[in-house]
Amino acid sequence: MDNLSVNSKGHLCIGGVDTVDIAAEYGTPVYVMDEDTVRRACREFKASIEENYGGGMVCYATKAFCCKEMCRIMKDEGIGLDTVSGGEIYTALSVGFPAERIVFTSNNKKDEEIVYALENGVGRITCDNIEELRRISSIAVGMGKTARVVLRLKPGVEAHTFEAVMTGQIDSKFGFAIETGEALTAAKECSALPGIELSGVHCHIGSQIHDIAPFEKAAEVMIDFIGRLRDEGITIKDLSLGGGFGIKYTEKDIPVPYGDYMKRVSARVKECCRAKDLEVPFMMIEPGRSVAAPAGLTLYTVGSRKTIPDIRTYIGIDGGMPDNPRYALYKSEYTVTVANKANEPKDEIITLAGRTCESGDLIGENMPLQHAEEKDIVAVLSTGAYCYSMASHYNRVPNAPVVMVKDKKTRLIVRRETYEDVARNDI
Ligand code: LLP
Repeated sequence: MDNLSVNSKGHLCIGGVDTVDIAAEYGTPVYVMDEDTVRRACREFKASIEENYGGGMVCYATKAFCCKEMCRIMKDEGIGLDTVSGGEIYTALSVGFPAERIVFTSNNKKDEEIVYALENGVGRITCDNIEELRRISSIAVGMGKTARVVLRLKPGVEAHTFEAVMTGQIDSKFGFAIETGEALTAAKECSALPGIELSGVHCHIGSQIHDIAPFEKAAEVMIDFIGRLRDEGITIKDLSLGGGFGIKYTEKDIPVPYGDYMKRVSARVKECCRAKDLEVPFMMIEPGRSVAAPAGLTLYTVGSRKTIPDIRTYIGIDGGMPDNPRYALYKSEYTVTVANKANEPKDEIITLAGRTCESGDLIGENMPLQHAEEKDIVAVLSTGAYCYSMASHYNRVPNAPVVMVKDKKTRLIVRRETYEDVARNDI
């Protein structure tokens, strides 16, 4: 997390801005994002695909963190978007994001979302199942359009990550299985259906992966499948290998440089294409977490300190599961620090407890932290992905705002919700 530093007051800074000042100005809980870190990740991915593969399209997976400003940044960086819903597509289009650079990937698209995507010229639709394929075809025909379709495949590769985010194995709700013949049948049907141009194949093997080998393996399986399709007279132009690149949440995580990933995967794709006498496909990748997570942190104010002798100390904060459900869902680990005591030693082991009426509302257990007391500001690091985007209104807690840091200045990019916002749709 090289966007972090400690100033002369001993306060944690992000992008050169004192996080204690940010908490004072915007209130807590607050998500803070460092724009340079987001842009640097985009550029690294873009450069690595150019250098190692000779081009392709980097599509930021908006599910990691989607808001208008993030879409503006992606537009400015000249990369694409991997979206999951009409809402994400809408957010992108509302800031003039070029529709042809949007990919729409989900496992159960509603008819109105398919219509919305086609109406607005979304570049590619990643199709998940046979019923959806037929629906896309009939909707496109009805609209007098041709949908450019990419088939989501399960390459049967298991990556070492936590189970909830594993997606490439056969027992997954996502995509067509290659090994059962389902994918081949779908591709044949797809290439014969009206209103559809079968342009590519896609896979995404999981998330928070620190190993290059499963990506290489997936690439190999995908090229092999493209070869089988060629033998059936079906030409595949695009290959999307999804996202999943791991980041450093704690000292235990050792992420692989994106350049190394692209280098090895590009080499494997080209080698497999050569062996099968295939043209090298247009490459797409969909990083989400690796673009957004390292750029962000969340600030909370400590409200209480509860020590249960011989058991544990709970540090009670003014946020929790509604702004970050990842511990409740995955037992995910984070690095935390007391922002106003950043230079002090982390000599306590604590449990960071959220404010909602749920025992499982924790940000983490057994975490080393400085001695934290009422009014201290706690920073949870690397929360730029899958926190704001997974926020809920449990207990009618208004969603926290997002502040962007750039050139040592801050600006609000998502406002804090009010009680009225929370009750807006109540009748
Ligand atoms: N492409 C597809 C088709 C995906 O399903 C995903 C993530 C990505 C790209 C981006 O993957 P990333 O680069 O972010 O690993 N909520 C979970 C993560 C779920 C990931 C779902 N798919 C979490 O908080 O860890």
